[in-house]
Amino acid sequence: MDEPRKPVSAAAYWEGLYAERQDGWELGEAAPSLQACLASGRPFTPGARVAVPGCGRGHDARLLARHGFAVTGFDFAEAAVTEARQLASHERLAATFERRDVFTLAKDYAGGFDAVWEYTCFCAIDPDRRAEYARTLHDILKPGGTLLACFYPLKDGTDGPPFPVSRQGIEAALGPYFRIVESGAPPASPERRRGLEWLVRAERRSGAPVDSPGRAC
Ligand SMILES: C[S@@+](CC[C@H](N)C(=O)[O-])C[C@H]1O[C@@H](n2cnc3c(N)ncnc32)[C@H](O)[C@@H]1O
Repeated sequence: MDEPRKPVSAAAYWEGLYAERQDGWELGEAAPSLQACLASGRPFTPGARVAVPGCGRGHDARLLARHGFAVTGFDFAEAAVTEARQLASHERLAATFERRDVFTLAKDYAGGFDAVWEYTCFCAIDPDRRAEYARTLHDILKPGGTLLACFYPLKDGTDGPPFPVSRQGIEAALGPYFRIVESGAPPASPERRRGLEWLVRAERRSGAPVDSPGRAC
């Protein structure tokens, strides 16, 4: 019989993992895919307001802040938000962190961001809530806003977190709310995640024309 799904929609589940240092996802630095995108060009317009859902200790948010973006990281685990604030403060970065269930964002941040950077939140939420998550990201973006997302782990199976993703599953979740502009293997991945990541640039649906697909950054 299948194991019951872990209670990933409860902050307490993640707080327990932080408390027990069961944070196997921790890279200690920003996602290599994001680092590569920022090094090779401008993933977002200069000064863009960028949301980072499920930001953990905020390594990606801090990197974005160093590049001049107006970043807000969201996470419902208290330890994550506390550490993210401390790390940003040590660097005197203006990144903001809010303790918050990402599924509640639309009511306060409707159209409030130019861009979203998604990394390892999609695989942390209950897979049955992926459409709801995509809808939330759509709702907090301005029309035509950018979703840059590095999906992981690209493999078969149902057990998690991290809950496996497939290219078809990504397209199914995003399709109603976003137009996928570019997708492909990211230019860089952590060694243990090589071949398991998929980078997508998508545009919040607003009727605007979309360029033909190519590399995501
Ligand atoms: C796998 S960790 C990844 C953290 C970070 N993105 C990183 O790469 O280090 C997933 C994070 O998402 C947070 N999270 C999961 N579901 C959430 C939700 N519904 N609302 C807010 N945060 C959530 C967890 O607390 C955890 O910090």
